[in-house]
Amino acid sequence: MTRSHSIAVLPGDGIGPEVVSCALQVLDAAEARHGFTTERREYAAGAGHYLETGELFAAVEEELRDADAILFGSMGDPRVTPGILERGFILEMRQRFQQAANVRPVRLYPGVPTPIADLTPERCELVIVRENTEGAYVGRGSTVHAGTPHAVAMQESLNTRAGIERVVDFSFRLALGRRRRLTLCHKTNILVAAGQLWQQVVAELGERYPEVEVDYVHVDAMCFHLPLTPERFDVVVTDNLFGDIITDLGAVIQGGLGVATSANLNLDGTAPSMFEAIHGSAPDIAGTGTANPAGAILSLALMLGHLGEGEAARAVEAATVEVLGGLPALAGPAMGLSTGEIGSRIADLVRSGEASAELVPDSLLGTLAALPASRR
Ligand code: NAI
Ligand code: MG
Repeated sequence: MTRSHSIAVLPGDGIGPEVVSCALQVLDAAEARHGFTTERREYAAGAGHYLETGELFAAVEEELRDADAILFGSMGDPRVTPGILERGFILEMRQRFQQAANVRPVRLYPGVPTPIADLTPERCELVIVRENTEGAYVGRGSTVHAGTPHAVAMQESLNTRAGIERVVDFSFRLALGRRRRLTLCHKTNILVAAGQLWQQVVAELGERYPEVEVDYVHVDAMCFHLPLTPERFDVVVTDNLFGDIITDLGAVIQGGLGVATSANLNLDGTAPSMFEAIHGSAPDIAGTGTANPAGAILSLALMLGHLGEGEAARAVEAATVEVLGGLPALAGPAMGLSTGEIGSRIADLVRSGEASAELVPDSLLGTLAALPASRR
């Protein structure tokens, strides 16, 4: 029987629909080549939809819950007050669907320019796992004496043992299938209460994974180790806020918004996981055909890995890398090809099976596929 997966597609705003349509074209090719099918349902969501209807995540929650995975474009529009969509849709989805692990590969692909002089692809192949539901992002806090010279703002950071355990355990398993090194990144010398809990959990779970070497780096020190000696890292696990910051640094090292991608994984099978490029809706270039769809297409590859389609995931990654390596630039008119042309080239390579797998040895996507996927 043909394998089939149900996928919810949320193109969103700005360049979101442009890059997601490329990803879907590549998905068509992957299905034709690799013998599976998908049932896709597309949902209106984002700033445009919110301005028309006032609807946020709650309006689609129950329908999305039935999907095997969610492919997400990007949201945001200058007409919507910052925070409404971020908290009312994106954070709400991560929490309601318990997408506990935000997985961001930091991989410098061959032929992709990096601002770090002398960095080579062999030296830059790591994964950052960011706790995705707790920390400072629970959104709790209060303000007293607002608007007066005595204003007091309190912002809470919540850390639970259960929340830390699930993401640390996942990180150990991920490391086990890779170079077997796990680095905890935190600020244990200042944020002592939370830091101790994180360290305790890593030490305790580490006993179950004696093959994995454990390392610790403060978040500020991470900001110079990551660009200068990325080869030190295999899997890095970190708190929500630190992860938000260091993954942007990771994106810069690997060539920027055109290529960086992410997965928001539900680890216990209770709700679907979500896959997205890390860039936003880029209203400044929306409609110009100059957005690079690679980040979105690589998020499709992560999704395929998660759904157990490891072979297709690797093929999509290889085809994307081959096309990316031939572009004169990673964004804007200087790319030489339009958004749609890049999407078609990648789709053609996937369909023909001619992309060279040698460009992506030891694929992260293969590793992800080997981990238990939640909703098959
Ligand atoms: P952005 O990522 O949309 O754009 C930053 C800059 O990078 C812009 O100059 C843009 O043209 C360029 N850029 C982004 N993606 C590109 C691509 N694929 N190819 C070529 N160039 C690309 O971030 P910005 O401008 O801060 O935010 C715009 C809107 O997106 C805001 O409303 C923001 O809240 C939202 N946003 C949404 C995210 C999401 O949906 N997950 C993530 C980040 C921002
Ligand atoms: Mg961010």
